[in-house]
Amino acid sequence: MESVGRLAGGVAHDFNNMLMGILGYADLCRDSLPAEHPMHSDLDEITKCANRSAELTRQLLAFARKQIIQPKVLDLNDAVSGMLTLLQKLIGENIKVTWMPGANPPPVKLDPSQVDQILTNLFINARDAIGGVGKITVATSSATLDRAFCDDHPGASPGEYVLLRVSDTGCGMTKDVLANLFEPFFTTKDIGKGTGLGLATVHGIVMQNHGFIDVSSEPDKGTTFRIYLPVYSEEIDKTSVASSGEVPRGRGETILFVDDDRRKGGAGRKDALPPEAEQSRRHGPQGARGAG
Ligand SMILES: Nc1ncnc2c1ncn2[C@@H]1O[C@H](COP(=O)(O)OP(=O)(O)OP(=O)(O)O)[C@@H](O)[C@H]1O
Ligand SMILES: [Mg+2]
Repeated sequence: MESVGRLAGGVAHDFNNMLMGILGYADLCRDSLPAEHPMHSDLDEITKCANRSAELTRQLLAFARKQIIQPKVLDLNDAVSGMLTLLQKLIGENIKVTWMPGANPPPVKLDPSQVDQILTNLFINARDAIGGVGKITVATSSATLDRAFCDDHPGASPGEYVLLRVSDTGCGMTKDVLANLFEPFFTTKDIGKGTGLGLATVHGIVMQNHGFIDVSSEPDKGTTFRIYLPVYSEEIDKTSVASSGEVPRGRGETILFVDDDRRKGGAGRKDALPPEAEQSRRHGPQGARGAG
């Protein structure tokens, strides 16, 4: 899984670079056209498609654990309740959602969009497993993982966690499906219905945040996902690398933009540099040496 993840991450990274080229050149074209030109709507479509592809790439990068994330200290109850209306829309009216927030759960620290990604993937899977009328229960609580639990659950580390539990009354899973659940591209859905990246993404997010996932399921008996996220503590946070959050500002320096890919050389220049900056545009290693 690790090597497939790395491969997919590498492909996603290169693909993302191409997308930056497409988006950048679409912007350059747009800027050079008069405001009322009919090509604007076509260029807007190119930008929309490229942005949608970038979203897919972000999913791939997330599960390959290379996504740039912005962790924040969160109350998981707030994060879940803020998503419930949207989630209900996603799964339709035939599925009843029960929300059981734990009393005053301790804070956790992760990128809020990752909570959204976890919930969205679990809810869509639950909807597909229910395939009609059924129930999803979401609950939070505090949990202590002790040595005995960790001995029984490889990958878990002892400590204090906030538990996010998502249960459904769907079709459940066989042992074979359970064994492969988090593998990238593992799906039991028809071609075109599932990519098999949903739970790989969830797994990547939970690992990235030093959490742990436990799943219990049996055919015809529904499924429960338990996601343990470590409790945020200021002391531990202080020991990790501090960032001032300040954006560095230029003081008239020259930026040399070098890339072996002509597409990015042109488009990236526009994004990276303010108009007044001195711009040197050279292509290929000779150009770069000449400029250096
Ligand atoms: N709640 C669930 N109940 C029953 N089976 C599930 C559940 N969640 C996941 N599965 C099984 O695990 C497989 C992998 O899930 P995953 O979310 O990774 O991919 P997918 O849903 O098939 O496709 P994608 O999420 O990329 O659209 C599913 O195809 C399904 O067989
Ligand atoms: Mg899925």
